[in-house]
Amino acid sequence: MKALVCSSFGPIEQLTVQEIAAPVPRSKQVLIDVKAAALNFPDALMVQGNYQFKPSLPFTPGTEFSGIISAVGDEVRNHKIGDRVIAYGLGGFAEKAVADAERIMTLPTGMNFDAGAALVLTYATSLHALRDCGRLQPEETLLVLGAAGGVGVSAIEIGKAMGARVIAAASSDSKLALCKQLGADEAINYETENLRERINHLTGAHGVDVVYDPVGGHYTELALRATTWGGRLLVIGFASGEIPKIPINLALLKERSIVGVYWGDSVKHNPQGHLRNMQQLLEWFANGKISPVISDRVPLSGAAGAMMRMANRQIMGKVVVLPEV
Ligand SMILES: NC(=O)c1ccc[n+]([C@@H]2O[C@H](COP(=O)([O-])OP(=O)(O)OC[C@H]3O[C@@H](n4cnc5c(N)ncnc54)[C@H](OP(=O)(O)O)[C@@H]3O)[C@@H](O)[C@H]2O)c1
Repeated sequence: MKALVCSSFGPIEQLTVQEIAAPVPRSKQVLIDVKAAALNFPDALMVQGNYQFKPSLPFTPGTEFSGIISAVGDEVRNHKIGDRVIAYGLGGFAEKAVADAERIMTLPTGMNFDAGAALVLTYATSLHALRDCGRLQPEETLLVLGAAGGVGVSAIEIGKAMGARVIAAASSDSKLALCKQLGADEAINYETENLRERINHLTGAHGVDVVYDPVGGHYTELALRATTWGGRLLVIGFASGEIPKIPINLALLKERSIVGVYWGDSVKHNPQGHLRNMQQLLEWFANGKISPVISDRVPLSGAAGAMMRMANRQIMGKVVVLPEV
């Protein structure tokens, strides 16, 4: 089968499409003919050796995908050959990938393979962040940084579905236009405008209740300072490449909370909570409240290029890789 292969940790350019043996499912795994696989920022970090989890080499990146089951391990009971499924794990940028049976779910009626591939990592992260970690309430104000990126887009849609007022912040007017199209109530270009002053203006000096921060760098402290009494800063990631150092007195001054979010491990600690969140996401998808924004579809040979564009801030929403094209 054809697969994108990372043979050594390093620049994204080193990735190559190769002909390799198809993986063989273990007893609690299934083999999936991949129809679509979505690109996420952690894929770019992983191939460069900069992610918290380092797979053994060589490996095929791609942490979320959808497709049709073509083989099942002998202890798999809930899925069978021919089932159309969504999965997360590793190895999605390939014609075939294995996934643990506990990490797959049936592709719902009305959802195509592209949307199925692009749903879990970003939307489940954002729902876990906003509901479980941030306790976002209806009528509260949510500030989303990096709002036109993969997780950012999902945070806008989920924030609106939860009844919040959403302020989107991103680096270009075309990104902000997308955010508004997705339902953001206000938009701030944090490259050209003063983030804190604009938030003060938009909230009548009240400040925001919750900050969703997948960017880090200097934006984090500006956003934290713009939170109101009891504000919550959700630490999602550091796409800017800089882990900010925050003066801790900012937490004391307004009883603010700085809350870490690690969706992958949260699923292990609370599998039932994850299932509940997935049910909620599927319900919102069926009601049209959320829908993955897919800005580009590329073949396997285009996956490394898309990863580079992602690392250079040039992508909006999600890119989906189609291994059969
Ligand atoms: N905690 C968790 O459980 C969890 C789960 C999933 C993802 N994440 C993390 O969330 C972060 C975002 O992931 P994503 O998939 O949404 O990525 P993405 O689609 O690339 O979006 C990241 C956004 O960050 C902004 N950004 C600012 N400086 C940047 C830079 N120097 N390079 C790249 N982007 C920059 C960009 O928006 P502007 O150009 O508008 O600034 C970009 O749209 C990553 O750090 C990822 O590891 C965490």
